[in-house]
Amino acid sequence: MQLFLDTADLEEIHTGVEQWGVVSGVTTNPTLIAKAGQDHETQVKRICEIVGNVSAECVSEKKDDLIPEGRRIASWHENVIVKVPMTWDGLAAAKVLAGEGVRINVTLCFTVNQALLAATVGAYIVSPFVGRLDDINQDGIRLIRDIVAAYREQGVTTKVLSASLRNPIHVQDSALAGADIATMPFKVMESLVTHPLTDQGVARFLADYERAGAGRASAAGADARAKPDLRSDYRTTQEPKAVEAPQGQAAAKA
Ligand code: G3P
Repeated sequence: MQLFLDTADLEEIHTGVEQWGVVSGVTTNPTLIAKAGQDHETQVKRICEIVGNVSAECVSEKKDDLIPEGRRIASWHENVIVKVPMTWDGLAAAKVLAGEGVRINVTLCFTVNQALLAATVGAYIVSPFVGRLDDINQDGIRLIRDIVAAYREQGVTTKVLSASLRNPIHVQDSALAGADIATMPFKVMESLVTHPLTDQGVARFLADYERAGAGRASAAGADARAKPDLRSDYRTTQEPKAVEAPQGQAAAKA
């Protein structure tokens, strides 16, 4: 599962991508862009210089307005993914834009049927909102599980992006439910690494090391490098600045 930040704050994005090295995309919406205090185009272009998958949302409602708006947003940068709402107009615009090779994120998804519609028009991503379902006493994570199951059953390649995540449990449950991507606020991502026993363990090891004076013997130079060890089988889900080609929609099962 890829980890995205749900923010338009450049400092948070720099931290997630460059400092932590775990963020491979960003989702924005008009609320987040307004918080960043910059115009939409400028802010989205700046984010695209940092990371390879950046969802930028259309604000038009009608198909005939959404299509030119989507084209304009897509022209800002090759890393842009155009976000459209889960409405008939949004889906119709998505179909035209996806047909032109634009990566589309259909957002505000709350049912499996909506997710099937997004897949049918060739969306690259569908965004089910977990927290907002939990807010109204429905099971947001169950929706992720059900969409993933339906997509697998139908051979759909649209990515399931678990959105509106409010806490670290939402993140781990999204992974267990089979989401392709989880997007979350900076605070939630920050909390993923935290455990009191980890902090205690690090402090204890350092204290023991200091007490034993073990640091003195191993004063290796800062430029020391190990020979690459092929047994490490190093893999990463992170693709900073990677531009993924639009994927075709797998045909539904006969
Ligand atoms: O990822 C969608 C997000 O921006 C909405 O989150 O917490 O307002 O439901 P929330």
